[in-house]
Amino acid sequence: MRRAKPASSASIPSCKSCLVFAPTDHHYSPTLICPPPPSRQPTPRALVNRSSASSGEHPTPRTLYIRGHTLLPPHQQPLLQSSFRLHQCLPQYRASTCVVAALAGSQGMAAAVRCLLTVAVVLSPLLAGGGVAAGGPLSTSFYSKRCPSVQGIVRAGMASAVAAERRMGASILRMFFHDCFVNGCDASILLDDTPTFTGEKNAGPNANSVRGYEVIDAIKAQVEAACNATVSCADILALAARDAVNLLGGPTWTVYLGRRDALTASQSDANANLPGPGSSLATLVAMFGNKGLSPRDMTALSGAHTVGQARCATFRDRIRNDANINATFASLRQQTCPQAGGDGNLAPIDAQTTEAFDNAYYQNLMSRQGLFHSDQELFNGGSQDALVKKYSGNAGMFAADFAKAMARMGAISPLTGTQGEVRLNCRKVN
Ligand code: HEM
Repeated sequence: MRRAKPASSASIPSCKSCLVFAPTDHHYSPTLICPPPPSRQPTPRALVNRSSASSGEHPTPRTLYIRGHTLLPPHQQPLLQSSFRLHQCLPQYRASTCVVAALAGSQGMAAAVRCLLTVAVVLSPLLAGGGVAAGGPLSTSFYSKRCPSVQGIVRAGMASAVAAERRMGASILRMFFHDCFVNGCDASILLDDTPTFTGEKNAGPNANSVRGYEVIDAIKAQVEAACNATVSCADILALAARDAVNLLGGPTWTVYLGRRDALTASQSDANANLPGPGSSLATLVAMFGNKGLSPRDMTALSGAHTVGQARCATFRDRIRNDANINATFASLRQQTCPQAGGDGNLAPIDAQTTEAFDNAYYQNLMSRQGLFHSDQELFNGGSQDALVKKYSGNAGMFAADFAKAMARMGAISPLTGTQGEVRLNCRKVN
């Protein structure tokens, strides 16, 4: 990992490749932050705090934590420590290689201010978007010449999978979420375990739960037949998730393309980065924040629970021990989800319109019929109540916000350029 350089005005880096954050917390001073190096590092960036430099002390590197674009006050840091990485907030800077420099004296401060102004202009569209850029380094025309048929092939593959089983649309959508939240949208989730490699498929949130791998395999085979060694599995999954939503009656959006496939996967990162069904609102906000997604993005994306099924093991506690639950709904679910056993018994997540992508999920929350504890946390007297209410009465607003949030989620830390590879078989590295 690159470390902060000692203070010196000569060491101030070009602000073309460095970001300057103006923290909202007055305890912190403006700080130059190094974008991550090309290789992925599991630890947060080391930063140098200007205050120690300007006070004449030799500055010591410090590790600070950032949520979205805000430096966190110290008391919030331990909560987020395990999964904080700048590149997850600003994937388009992933390939940058600048180093952190301390700011020394008035010359350093002047440079910092110039940097701040320059970078503010560059970043303002991103900041307005609430975190992750919609496209980042990706583009809408990436395969226009290289593989013009790819979007049609993915759409046809998903249409046939959803026609055969409507739940498959939900399963592919979830697979994309579970890919993007674990080291970015890089198809790491698709790598099979081998005797010498442990990937993400058997992580707690994925094992016996994520489904649809064979659907992606079938689409990939067709894409390979049309355009050999050209389209990444990560892009296929991003397109497939978009088409899944649309085929179930939900919105569509433009998918930015050009992701490349990971050379590895991490079971422990999958266990650490995916929220569980018992999560509190604070945890959900923090875990989505870790990815550069706002609470509004989180509440919109949770609307994916308007489709699909869940296993008894994931909501058993909720239907027995939660107070904020409709009693009739709880006893109905208890009939097929016993106190002991039946872990794999399925129930619809949205019982009203299980196979339609609509806003009924939010109506369920308002009548205390969220299936997961984490779902009901979005309407439990907290910060998301008002938004849930709006979405429940305005399907168009939900659809528009969901599409925007999906585009932002799809831009989390992509591998681009020469990073990673284009896998030939999504289940293994080339
Ligand atoms: C907010 C935090 C979230 C939590 C705690 C959560 C948790 C869960 C759980 C426990 C299940 C059932 C898994 C099983 O029974 O094995 C599930 C299913 C599902 N989740 Fe989420 N989820 C969250 C967010 C999301 C997001 C952001 C999306 C997509 C954008 C999503 C899409 C789905 C879908 C579509 C299903 C049904 C899958 C199927 O039927 O195969 N979830 N989720």
